[in-house]
Amino acid sequence: MKGAVIGGTGCQSFLPPGVRERIVQSRYGEVLLYEDDDIVYLLRHRLGHTVPPHLINYRAHIDALRIAGIRRIVAIYAVGSITESLKPGTAGVLGQFVDLAGNRENTFYSEPGQSFRHTPMDEPYSPTLSRTLIEEGKGRGLTLARDLTYVCTNGPRLETPAEIAMYRTLGCDVVGMTAGTETSLACEAGIEFAGIAYSINWAAGVGGSQVSFIQDHEIDHLTGALTNLARNTLLSI
Ligand code: HPA
Repeated sequence: MKGAVIGGTGCQSFLPPGVRERIVQSRYGEVLLYEDDDIVYLLRHRLGHTVPPHLINYRAHIDALRIAGIRRIVAIYAVGSITESLKPGTAGVLGQFVDLAGNRENTFYSEPGQSFRHTPMDEPYSPTLSRTLIEEGKGRGLTLARDLTYVCTNGPRLETPAEIAMYRTLGCDVVGMTAGTETSLACEAGIEFAGIAYSINWAAGVGGSQVSFIQDHEIDHLTGALTNLARNTLLSI
């Protein structure tokens, strides 16, 4: 069974050589996928990182993967660290999210009169896929934190220190602008889903810091390792 990797910031450099382009016509517009015989890749922000988080056509992305026959997704997210235990330059798997991003289409049930269901969200991220990611990571010297809670903001602006202080009191470990929407839609579509978050900065005011990002070459190194990890995990399962 084919799986898919959704890559974010920095992942475009890590498409394996020889991937083919494929345009899928979804119910919400065209989506460009990259694929080889085993895995499908989707670049969330498109080549060159030209689409900001609040303008991504998330419904088209998930619908296109569904049409391509994908039953399993590993999604990779750049985040800011709220918890001191996830230092910038390190990564972990998501366990829960808090979705505060309102200004975007975040459900497939948006037609008046359309039949719908209330999708259960007790376990938004697949425990089996998450556990396998952690195990595969161990085998490659890549330690992944577990069970992180992601708060999804609307963006594209970063947060104020007061907002981050509030998210911390809510139990959130990391902050980003995409996972809440993407995970909700994957769950509605019934696709098994896991999320890897890698920290590229301390969130605003954490440790009294100004927001400052790790260097590009560190981001490249980490996204390369995580994209390979996602691929190999999907192939092993
Ligand atoms: N805030 C929101 N999204 C982010 C951040 C951040 O600090 N870092 C990477 N994505």
